[in-house]
Amino acid sequence: MAKVKSFTPLLFISFLLLASCLSSSNGELFKPNVTIANGLEFGYYRFTCPQVDTLVRNYLTQVYRADPGQAAAILRLQSHDCFVQGCDGSVLLDRSPERSEIPNKHFKQQTFQIIETLRQIVHTHCGRVVSCSDLLTLAARDAVFLTGGPDFTVPLGRRDGVTFPRVNQTFEDLIAPTAKTTEILTKFARKGLNLLDTVALSGAHTIGIARCSSFRERLFPTRDPTMEISLYEKLRPYCAFPEFDSLTWLDFRSPFKFDNLYFVDLINRQGLFTSDQDLFEDPRTRGTVINFANNEFQFFASFAGALIKMGTVGVLTDGQGEIRARCNMRNSDFFNLESVLEKDKNSSSAAI
Ligand code: HEM
Repeated sequence: MAKVKSFTPLLFISFLLLASCLSSSNGELFKPNVTIANGLEFGYYRFTCPQVDTLVRNYLTQVYRADPGQAAAILRLQSHDCFVQGCDGSVLLDRSPERSEIPNKHFKQQTFQIIETLRQIVHTHCGRVVSCSDLLTLAARDAVFLTGGPDFTVPLGRRDGVTFPRVNQTFEDLIAPTAKTTEILTKFARKGLNLLDTVALSGAHTIGIARCSSFRERLFPTRDPTMEISLYEKLRPYCAFPEFDSLTWLDFRSPFKFDNLYFVDLINRQGLFTSDQDLFEDPRTRGTVINFANNEFQFFASFAGALIKMGTVGVLTDGQGEIRARCNMRNSDFFNLESVLEKDKNSSSAAI
């Protein structure tokens, strides 16, 4: 008994030491050691909107508490923004062709509305100084923290894009869930993300949901031999009717919690997509999967660094792009629309 007592403070101290690596004792957040793109900066809004982090976190705390599924959707939305034409908020634009292409077709209007509401809150306090692409970056960072993952600071200063990606660019830049590790590593490398970043970022599948259509080829006509039998037996009847395209958890061990159990799933051959499971099957990435499954701290540190790196892909900064007045429209479209509405209002009041 005495032994247990003297061990407890030691355990507590080690926990504090570990925790302080991800969030330092003077209240400053963990800053992963990654090279930051030109024009992005930690504390970018310290003079123009010092309260931006707090405003975003307070609002998202309520949103994610009411609907935890939105945290996963926003984290995914940021990755789709960054992989296609860089992190320029193009995925938020109503008229962008990427919005109607298959990988983005299931995002709900509510998810886009969360980013627009954040913009309204932040612009009401600070004026039009914070970009929608920065708000999406902060919202993705908070999605990780508010579901149990690490807290860390992200460099800001992105400007919003004014061009749409090409038709089909979404298909070319994003990766299908049927992809194997070679294709995944190649596509991530094109965005400047290495093997460690790739495995860490795939760990985002520790939260959220997926449709049967995203992994059907692993169930029919026969079991993918890299899928564990009891998972197969559960999923096969569940996904038997393509017309329903049912939803299931990506990480059934802890679907709402950002933790390292996704990697434990992979070791047990219970990853949902081919693209997930193959990270364990492929000898190049297997060691990293095992390491993250054994060491959540390592996963958290690598994930934070990789998410920051992903957030620097193709960013617009300084004089490029714009700060949008509405996240779903380019300013040229928005101000044109406003002047048309204004004209319309004037002519109808003249008629009265
Ligand atoms: C090899 C790379 C990747 C592939 C093939 C992939 C594929 C997918 C697919 C197919 C879905 C489910 C869509 C559906 O069935 O409705 C999904 C969900 C998700 N993905 Fe990925 N993804 C990849 C990388 C990423 C990255 C880099 C992140 C974030 C950093 C991410 C975060 C998520 C999240 C959080 C969900 C759940 C969304 C929700 O519940 O609404 N994914 N992914």
